[in-house]
Amino acid sequence: MVKYGAVPILVLLAAGHYGSLAESENGEFQNPWDNLTDLLGRIPLRMATPQPNFQLIGSRYFHIEQNIKQNWTTAASTCRQLGGYLAAMKDEEEAKAIIARLTPFKYYYMGINDHEKRRSFVSLASGKPAFLKWSKGEPDYVYHDQNCVSILNFNPDDEGLMVAPCSNKYTFICQKDTEI
Ligand SMILES: *[C@@H]1O[C@H](CO)[C@@H](O)[C@H](O)[C@H]1NC(C)=O
Ligand SMILES: *[C@@H]1O[C@H](CO)[C@@H](O)[C@H](O)[C@H]1NC(C)=O
Repeated sequence: MVKYGAVPILVLLAAGHYGSLAESENGEFQNPWDNLTDLLGRIPLRMATPQPNFQLIGSRYFHIEQNIKQNWTTAASTCRQLGGYLAAMKDEEEAKAIIARLTPFKYYYMGINDHEKRRSFVSLASGKPAFLKWSKGEPDYVYHDQNCVSILNFNPDDEGLMVAPCSNKYTFICQKDTEI
């Protein structure tokens, strides 16, 4: 809550500062509020805290984060802050329903990894073996640290999971429960 409150105050401070700069440079008064949109765009993304927005997809609740990109470990802790866990899927039907809600050509982190043993993919929330719906040619290990799994809506013939370096910054999907 403190974080949400801090943003408007920062905007006010930044607007005031920006306004006085504009004045001294041009010698004429400019209303700093005219550039509020510009200012909002300059606030670093980490200031923006995602709001939990869990929706029922099939029989379970998921938050599909569309804006904030984080590495895998940070995304996992953000899901905890939102009251959930980085997500895994239970079956083909659920996978299809989730994929249908993704922005095409965009990567989203899932709570699936093979940190313990290569090619042995488990769900972060439950520790159980994960249901896997790989996209074409996956898992394709190109980089050394591809222990994390992302999901992609590429096209109907090529959609699903891909291994990804855990340090990449992607949007992500949280689930509410620890069943899967
Ligand atoms: C708003 O921002 C633009 C570009 O940063 C600048 O050219 C313009 O003078 C600003 N306007 C005001 C009213 O401060
Ligand atoms: C993710 O970012 C955090 C904060 O910058 C860093 O401490 C952590 O090591 C990173 N994790 C990965 C897997 O890159």
